[in-house]
Amino acid sequence: MKKLLLSLATCSLLVSVLAQTNRIDRKVDSVLRLMTLEEKIGQLNQYNGDWEATGPITKAGDKQEQIIAGKVGSMLNVTGVEHTRVLQELAMRSRLRIPLLFGQDVIHGYRTIFPIPLAEAASWDLEAIERSARIAAIEASAQGIHWTFAPMVDVARDPRWGRVMEGAGEDTYLGTLIAVAQVKGFQGKGLGDTSSIMACAKHFAAYGAAVGGRDYNSVDMSLRQLHETYLPPFKATVDAGVATLMNSFNDINGIPASANKYILRDVLKGQWNFKGFVVSDWGSIGEMIKHGYVANNKEAAERSIIAGTDMDMESRSYIGHLANLVKQGRVKVAAIDDAVKRILRKKFELGLFDDPYRYSNKAREEREWNNEEHLNASLDIARKSIVLLKNEHGLLPLKKELGAIALIGPLVKSYKDHLGFWSYDWKDDSLRVPTLYDAVRSKLKAGAVINYAQGCSITGMSREGFAEAMEAARKSEMVVMYVGERRDQSGEAKSRSDIQLPGVQEELIKQIAELGKPMVVLIGAGRPLVFNWTSQHIPAIVYTWWLGTKGANAIADVIFGDFNPCGKLPMSFPRNAGQVPIYYNHYNTGRPASSDSDRNYVSAYIDLNNDPQYPFGYGLSYSKFEYGELKLSSRNLKANETLSIEIPVTNKSDRNGTEVIQLYIRDLVGSVVRPVKELKAFKRISFNAGETKTISFRLRTDDLKFYNNELKYDWEPGEFQVMVGGNSAEVRKENIIWGRGK
Ligand code: NOJ
Repeated sequence: MKKLLLSLATCSLLVSVLAQTNRIDRKVDSVLRLMTLEEKIGQLNQYNGDWEATGPITKAGDKQEQIIAGKVGSMLNVTGVEHTRVLQELAMRSRLRIPLLFGQDVIHGYRTIFPIPLAEAASWDLEAIERSARIAAIEASAQGIHWTFAPMVDVARDPRWGRVMEGAGEDTYLGTLIAVAQVKGFQGKGLGDTSSIMACAKHFAAYGAAVGGRDYNSVDMSLRQLHETYLPPFKATVDAGVATLMNSFNDINGIPASANKYILRDVLKGQWNFKGFVVSDWGSIGEMIKHGYVANNKEAAERSIIAGTDMDMESRSYIGHLANLVKQGRVKVAAIDDAVKRILRKKFELGLFDDPYRYSNKAREEREWNNEEHLNASLDIARKSIVLLKNEHGLLPLKKELGAIALIGPLVKSYKDHLGFWSYDWKDDSLRVPTLYDAVRSKLKAGAVINYAQGCSITGMSREGFAEAMEAARKSEMVVMYVGERRDQSGEAKSRSDIQLPGVQEELIKQIAELGKPMVVLIGAGRPLVFNWTSQHIPAIVYTWWLGTKGANAIADVIFGDFNPCGKLPMSFPRNAGQVPIYYNHYNTGRPASSDSDRNYVSAYIDLNNDPQYPFGYGLSYSKFEYGELKLSSRNLKANETLSIEIPVTNKSDRNGTEVIQLYIRDLVGSVVRPVKELKAFKRISFNAGETKTISFRLRTDDLKFYNNELKYDWEPGEFQVMVGGNSAEVRKENIIWGRGK
């Protein structure tokens, strides 16, 4: 009976969704019928707002007149109720009064800045990640924004690439779950709700695989690799109802993504049945001239619209040439109509045709500007994102009763660097964002002395401040150093050939360490950095990424033990840049090294181990988790059977703590070679002090599927290794056979 009621409820939901879809389709068609070709092309045109002294609105003249003439469908970088309203009013003076869409890079928070996405990925906490995107949407929508250019779902295995900060790291499975959580967060209850904004999965596709980790560089890879590693997060966001996708700047196997018919028409809009629209990246249509793919902007427009890019961000290729291309018969009106319909549909779904000022509510804007709850949520995920890399002799957590502590390093009194690359400069940031100095001060007892010295700058080569730093350390019982990257060192166009901790910071660490004081090093950065000397010689190391508005409080909570760290790395940390790309799910090769020191005609470097400094999934806690024996429901399974996996995990400490338990598999023989490990599931579990819990997972043959050489997604029977552990390198394993029969 229950089942029947449930399926009736599902049916009626489906019917109402379909009815709504049909209603909107009819409305879209009715608008389309009224439009001239020029007005249609206008909908495909997106401009940037000019940032003027008075604020982010576009200058009078050119763009403003085009809005009135119906030649602009969307603006980016125009924010605030007042500014968006001014431009929306211009759109309401156009013949058909089609509202504008306002888009913005709301990447890790808007007013309240959250940890950078790579840091959030280290939390492995999907609910917290969804909440972070939800809050960003609430704040951005209150400012008149309808659309964020996020999440970036590019899998990234090369920390030289500056944009690793913007994604979920190297793993497709983890990245896929995070991508879906972000889309859910941004789009909330659905596009009709004014606290929802359209999400945009970007950059389609394979942008993270740029050769040499150099931003905007080419990508050349097998279609199998593309489908298996780089496309799944996009596909999952499409299934989750993402409203838009953005092209990537790169070419894929020689065809720029903005005109790549295979990925756009065949895969995205064909096989995946994507109903939203695709926006180009900034100028990426026009850039195809420099790629050497088209001779001029006209050809660029032709190729892109035919391939399936619906909106042109700032190339002016569509507005400049599509009308002529249609008149000359080179582009069919049907191709334009398809793109226009996709865009109008979203404007209807957002409710902008009913009320173009739905997102222009001054009272709401003011209310959301300083929202305490949002700050608390930001603190919560910031703490969960911190990764404890090393903690010898239980040096951490620190005692709050310290009499004198040295705080040394260029990040100690910085607040901007906590905020990260994709954050906005609000006038009162310096008042709102505590520094580590402030946060540590608030933890210590009155009368405790903080001996502060900057020591050096982040990137400069001067050692002039070293003496003062040594003095500060000498006078103190213990030393906390805070070093890392400047806010603009990881991000778009911020690739680095050398990912060493910048400047003379590690040299400063070495000098201070010579004093022999107990010492903790905190590293704040947008990417995995190299700091081998520190790894080998400093007893306690904490990776703090860029954690947002409440970053310093989160760090202080962790180092003073008010929060037990639980973050796990979403990317492998290399020993040097020569090892990259480096990722845990590599192939075994025909000559795998038998140990880290094996150099004997095997796939290895003669001057360096293969393994990373810190592996994917790694992170310590103040608790100590012990993994017991792996228990499998069967060692010989048939196709229709489910494998149950159990493992007891014990918190062998007197502190409550949280552990991320990770399940990996290896398919030992395949028609194409399979990775040495693939993450298939994880659980983030809290344990009381001393508690043992039995953690269970279930695997089915669907979890074993991969793309074979014919691009067929299927599993193959045979022997598999099942592995469970607290990181990708230390696992308990057992072998099983999974056969075809029933
Ligand atoms: C270029 C970046 O690649 C993209 O991610 C961003 O959304 C656009 N600029 C708009 O700012």
